[in-house]
Amino acid sequence: MSSKVLVYNKPRLEGIITVPGDKSISHRAVMLGAIAKGTTTVTGFLPGEDCLSTIDCFQKLGVDIQVDGTNVKISSPGIEGWQEPKEVLYTGNSGTTTRLLLGILSGTDFFSVITGDASIGKRPMGRVTKPLKQMGAQIFGREGGQYTPLAIVGSRLKAIDYTMPVASAQVKSAILLAGLQAEGTTVVREKEISRDHTERMLKQFGANIDVKDGVISLEGGQQLHATHVDVPGDISSAAFFLVAGSIVPNSEVVLKNVGINPTRAGIIEVMQQMGADITIHQENEGASEPTATITVRTSQLKGTTIEGEIIPRLIDEIPIIALLATQAEGTTVIRDAEELKVKETDRIAAVVAELKKLGADITPTDDGMIINGPTPLEGTSLCTYGDHRIGMMAAIASLITDSPVEIDDADCIAVSYPTFFEHLDLLLK
Ligand code: S3P
Repeated sequence: MSSKVLVYNKPRLEGIITVPGDKSISHRAVMLGAIAKGTTTVTGFLPGEDCLSTIDCFQKLGVDIQVDGTNVKISSPGIEGWQEPKEVLYTGNSGTTTRLLLGILSGTDFFSVITGDASIGKRPMGRVTKPLKQMGAQIFGREGGQYTPLAIVGSRLKAIDYTMPVASAQVKSAILLAGLQAEGTTVVREKEISRDHTERMLKQFGANIDVKDGVISLEGGQQLHATHVDVPGDISSAAFFLVAGSIVPNSEVVLKNVGINPTRAGIIEVMQQMGADITIHQENEGASEPTATITVRTSQLKGTTIEGEIIPRLIDEIPIIALLATQAEGTTVIRDAEELKVKETDRIAAVVAELKKLGADITPTDDGMIINGPTPLEGTSLCTYGDHRIGMMAAIASLITDSPVEIDDADCIAVSYPTFFEHLDLLLK
């Protein structure tokens, strides 16, 4: 953990960057590539710490995975050929690795143990272990299988018909990946649509999966077919420069190859509603995920209300949207976002505490926050809580403060955006 002092003297941002690969899609490419027998190749992979944790876990399961920068080659004997891991599977800071692995390992014929870092140890796993146990999974852990470390005794699974109590792509994906090995047809019903990368990628790997009006059906016992996955840029990483380009005076930033899957692109809708100057061009449908180049220029912003079905489509972007709202005229209300409390840290508490230290007019609520703007921000020492997205929010804030901002842990940013400061340097004029 190393602190970093950020000092920028009236900067301007200009230039073109290609944002790194999507974290959610990179995880899934490795996972489905490991389940499928044969060789899967991945380009545009995100070599961030979270995705490297996923690779490490599958290597311990006997899958040969070679990483060369953003290229990954996965040679797998197929899920039936995996070996019982001799060591604990360590998922680091990654909720996606932990939860999806639980689904995948439940239907194997061996014993395995999953654990992660201190943040993972506090995150609710009952939301995954509960439906998996209904499928017949045998999972043991603290407080009745609610928290890591979790031990899994692989067993035969039966399909379930499950209505999601919370909008969570991790829970949905864990059930679907368990469903792939279960007897019968697994059905997952979503009231609010969460990111659909697993569904799209299962199709790309040749699975027969039906998705209609928030109901997903997948028949068990299907084989996946090794393929090639080209991972688009991560809109959740692009978000930091979308906001920076909007609030730093006289800026123009071009972000290339950004994934614009509608289940992820809520931030674009909200920023346009707030008056941001955003142009989307070079749209490309891709093999399973749409991408585009996005240009953002500085603009006058106004407050807005963010609530309801859009929340799962921008949940990871709320810290940086909160910073944006401090620079918008009027009141921004964020509600229906209680899920923020169970992310890498409690992101309602963390965002409010840190933006307040900078001088923002921001109040926490039970399910979100209320921000009045615009307010000038003053540099000070900020805490990341070991959360990459809080760290990047603080770094972008430092671009508009007159005095330096110190962040206590710049290293945590490598979880999702190892080249963040390089990209920032490239854009600084
Ligand atoms: C993710 C789903 C979301 C998101 C996380 C990545 C995924 O979490 O916040 O960063 O890759 O499926 P939830 O499933 O908990 O909503």
